[in-house]
Amino acid sequence: MTLDFVSLGGEDADGITALGGKPDLLDQGSITAHGLKDQHGQLICFLMIQAVADEAEVIDIVTRADHRRRGLAGHLLSRVIEDLRRDSVAALFLEVDENNDAALRLYRSRDFRPAGRRPSYYRHADGRRTDALLMRRMLDGASSSP
Ligand SMILES: CC(C)(COP(=O)(O)OP(=O)(O)OC[C@H]1O[C@@H](n2cnc3c(N)ncnc32)[C@H](O)[C@@H]1OP(=O)(O)O)[C@@H](O)C(=O)NCCC(=O)NCCS
Repeated sequence: MTLDFVSLGGEDADGITALGGKPDLLDQGSITAHGLKDQHGQLICFLMIQAVADEAEVIDIVTRADHRRRGLAGHLLSRVIEDLRRDSVAALFLEVDENNDAALRLYRSRDFRPAGRRPSYYRHADGRRTDALLMRRMLDGASSSP
C-alpha cells in the first residue's frame, strides 16, 4: 500500500480525532501536524510538533491500530526530522509514559536519549501513576541520522 506524506490542517480534524488526537491544538500557531494518508485520503498515522526558535517537541504521534508495527510512525518521524534539520532546529524533545513500550522502542530506534523524568506525571483510570520520561534527540550533529 502506498501512503502519501502530507501536511495536515483544519480539514483533517475528523481524521485526527478518529485516531485519538486533538485537532484543536493546530489553532496554536506554533503547532503543526504531518501525516500519512492512504489512497482513499484516510489518515493512517499523524505526528504533531511544536517548534519554538531552534527547539521542537513531539506533541503526539499515533498510528491507526490496524496499521501498527509496519514502520509507519518511524517513517513519519524520520521525514519530519529531515524537515526540522533543514529548518535548523537543533534539538527535538518529547515526553513518554515509562510503560509505553511501543513508543519507547520507536523513540530509541530514532536515537532519542533520556533527558529527565517527571515522577508520577501520568494518572491512569485505575488510579495508578506512572512517570513521564523526557527524551531528547540532537539534530545538529553528524552523530545520528534520521
Ligand atoms: C507508538 C506508535 C505510534 C508506534 O507506531 P508504529 O507505526 O506501530 O511504529 P513503527 O512500526 O514505525 O515502529 C517503530 C519502531 O518501534 C518498534 N515498535 C513499535 N511498536 C512496537 C511494539 N508494540 N512492541 C515492540 N516494538 C515496537 C518497532 O520495532 C520499530 O523499531 P525498528 O524501526 O527498529 O524496527 C503506536 O504504537 C501508537 O499509535 N500507539 C498509541 C499512541 C501512543 O502511545 N503514541 C505515543 C505517545 S508518546
